Amino acid sequence: MPLADPGPIIAQAHARGLAVIGANVSTIQMVRGVVRAAEDAQRPVLIQFNRSGLSLIGGVDIAAHVVKSIAEDSEAEIALHLDHADTLDELSAAINAGFGSVMIDGSTLPFDQHLTLAQSAKGLVTWSRLSLEAELGHVAGDEAGVTIGDASWTNPDEAARFVEATGVDWLAVAVGNTHGGPAVGGLQAERLQAIRDVAPVPLVLHGASGLTDDELRVAVNLGVAKINVGTALHQAAARGMADWLSENPNDLRGALSQSEVAVREEASTLLAATWAFGG
Ligand code: 13P
Ligand code: ZN
Repeated sequence: MPLADPGPIIAQAHARGLAVIGANVSTIQMVRGVVRAAEDAQRPVLIQFNRSGLSLIGGVDIAAHVVKSIAEDSEAEIALHLDHADTLDELSAAINAGFGSVMIDGSTLPFDQHLTLAQSAKGLVTWSRLSLEAELGHVAGDEAGVTIGDASWTNPDEAARFVEATGVDWLAVAVGNTHGGPAVGGLQAERLQAIRDVAPVPLVLHGASGLTDDELRVAVNLGVAKINVGTALHQAAARGMADWLSENPNDLRGALSQSEVAVREEASTLLAATWAFGG
């Protein structure tokens, strides 16, 4: 199939009380592993690159070409998303390359500056008819390619103002979730519910690798329609390669193939579970 438009995928999932996985990848084998998992599960998926993944694969044009070619050979619904960009230039480059949605991450900026940046980003994507994600509050932790500061939890009143003033399509929230680790003090369901009640857009949960199935289920039932996973997929790829190389130290081809197999397994588990949480 041709690359899918992420906007309707997320909107439909949100309307049905389901969540779509946003799978962060860095290699062709990871893209292939996630696409095979989407085929197995018969579920749509967003393939995501942040600047670390982009620098590994060779930039936005190569990333778009790789994902587009693999999607065209597949029956699965595959969309392409730019994750955690913090400049308008990064958004423009991805949009020109053919990404279907983008995230502007001003989450470490003061509120007013952040609002202005997100409004400019919305101007860019509206012109290209793409979807825009922004993060209010700040998801801390440890993630290659992501600007990390001190955690700050999303304020529901600010979320309402931010969504209204910027017109962002999807809002990433900080409700205990942490990049590359478990939620600090657990997922804050009450805060999530308060945000959901005032911000009428699909919510995005970053840092899902460290969340429990129960936390993910609660989140999906409280309006999260996109779940970002990166660390677990990269760990799976690394494990697949390391296991193979420990037995076959000179076989890079075999190791790369095993990284694809391991990512397919990890992504399949996530896809099956998260889709089943809602509805
Ligand atoms: P994890 O690496 O913790 O899964 O988070 C991924 C993420 O938030 C990508 O934006
Ligand atoms: Zn993230």
